[in-house]
Amino acid sequence: MAAISFTLNGELRQESSVSPTMTALDFLRENAGLTGTKEGCAEGDCGACTIVMVRNGADRLEAVMACLLVVGQLDGAQVVTVEGLTERGGELESVQQAIVTQDGTQCGFCTPGFVMALYALRHSGETVTDEVIHDALAGNLCRCTGYRSIVDAARTACSVSGKDNINSRDDSNTLPASDAYEAGGQLYFAPKTIDALIARRVEYPDAPLLSGGTDLGLLFSKERQKFPVTIYTQNVDELRRIEEDDTSFTIGAAATYTEALPYIEAEYASFGVLIRRIGSRQIRNVGTIGGNIGNASPIGDTPPCLIALDSVLTLRGPNGAREISLEDFFLDYRKTDLAKDEIIENVRVPKLGNGQIFRTYKISKRYDQDISSVIGAFRLTLENGVVTAARIAFGGMAAVPKRAIGCEAALTGAVWSEDAVRQAAAAIEEDFSPIDDHRASAAYRLRVAANLFVRLYRDLEGADDVEVMAL
Ligand SMILES: Cc1cc2nc3c(=O)[nH]c(=O)nc-3n(C[C@H](O)[C@H](O)[C@H](O)COP(=O)(O)OP(=O)(O)OC[C@H]3O[C@@H](n4cnc5c(N)ncnc54)[C@H](O)[C@@H]3O)c2cc1C
Ligand code: FES
Ligand code: FES
Repeated sequence: MAAISFTLNGELRQESSVSPTMTALDFLRENAGLTGTKEGCAEGDCGACTIVMVRNGADRLEAVMACLLVVGQLDGAQVVTVEGLTERGGELESVQQAIVTQDGTQCGFCTPGFVMALYALRHSGETVTDEVIHDALAGNLCRCTGYRSIVDAARTACSVSGKDNINSRDDSNTLPASDAYEAGGQLYFAPKTIDALIARRVEYPDAPLLSGGTDLGLLFSKERQKFPVTIYTQNVDELRRIEEDDTSFTIGAAATYTEALPYIEAEYASFGVLIRRIGSRQIRNVGTIGGNIGNASPIGDTPPCLIALDSVLTLRGPNGAREISLEDFFLDYRKTDLAKDEIIENVRVPKLGNGQIFRTYKISKRYDQDISSVIGAFRLTLENGVVTAARIAFGGMAAVPKRAIGCEAALTGAVWSEDAVRQAAAAIEEDFSPIDDHRASAAYRLRVAANLFVRLYRDLEGADDVEVMAL
């Protein structure tokens, strides 16, 4: 079967015998001898393995975590590692130079990852403020230098507009990606149409469907699992589309968080803030809302928001498409209504109507790059000071993301006031019996969920301590 082709620091690579689910990190270090890319955590948390890619069909450089990508996902892409920045004449790239002059490194283990994250930032075309620098570095950990000197280096380097010193970028963009690849007894399918994807799904109903791989990648990276067949979804154009009409957004299941963010933050600002807190840029550049729904975690961040917004999923299988309300999709812990021969095609998210407001709050131990303990999402319709409708959903409070029906009932028809909000909050104990685990006790979850109602009230009333509460 066909080989996997990509450029690596400007050189064409064609691989025909590498396992499709070997991690890109292992491939770079062990097969390509590029040991500048480091392995720290092997689970997407530390940024030591950051590389930069122009993915198949994309036109921008993005930082990604090599430990969670598999070799199959490199097909058709342009890949740049830290070694690729200094190829020309041994001159340091401006990010590298700034790290040196600003004393941004001590032990140096994390440094290549920082350089690559900042290199992607420098080429992103963004206006580089301190906030943007912090966002770009939220996925990179340094334990010894301290961030001040690294942020200084970022300010210096990113004030210089991007000079692309990568060879043959245009050529690499035209590299065709293969539909199928086999090596070491493993099959890797990367269909390009939805019909072809469904056909593979029907043929191999037990094969993992790989999207960004920011959940599934752990099976390859940490658990070293080798599946006989893997089906990749992100080469299917229909699944990458985001469409907007007067009343809704339809987000393809394989569209990344980075791609969806501009649409979401323009309509539901607080949902946009939440998305910016999912993992890090490296995670959001490949991770998808479709994957967040598909993994059916009770603490996934987007499902409570999407349920509160009354979103509808389109599932597609061999007999065509069907629609299901997202709240009905989650049946039990990690159990969904998806049939074995179906895929999630897209999620349709209604826009806010007259008098509707939406807020979501994520409670986690750290602001960035942390899994939620509890997440609350609220869509209220307010007319003349009365709550005429309420859709409220929580994550981290049950085996599935779930609506707070009792709280909704308590609030609906009430005059908008702190008293009404506190009464609605009291109903939380009837709606949920959360679990106790290492992340949070049941009592804490109940308490914090109830307190989110008060925060909602203060937020809508313009209290100035709500931002502080967000931290
Ligand atoms: C460092 C790190 C930080 C993270 N932080 C957060 C966080 O803050 N909040 C949060 O919610 N999550 C977080 N995650 C989890 C993960 O990033 C998200 O769940 C993400 O949305 C998964 O999307 P993906 O495309 O990478 O999914 P994948 O890993 O590719 O797939 C996830 C699951 O969805 C299924 N799936 C994918 N596409 C489809 C489809 N079209 N149809 C049917 N099933 C499908 C897959 O088969 C798999 O079971 C984090 C992960 C990491 C590694
Ligand atoms: S090795 Fe830590 S993020 Fe990849
Ligand atoms: S320089 Fe980053 S961990 Fe030491």
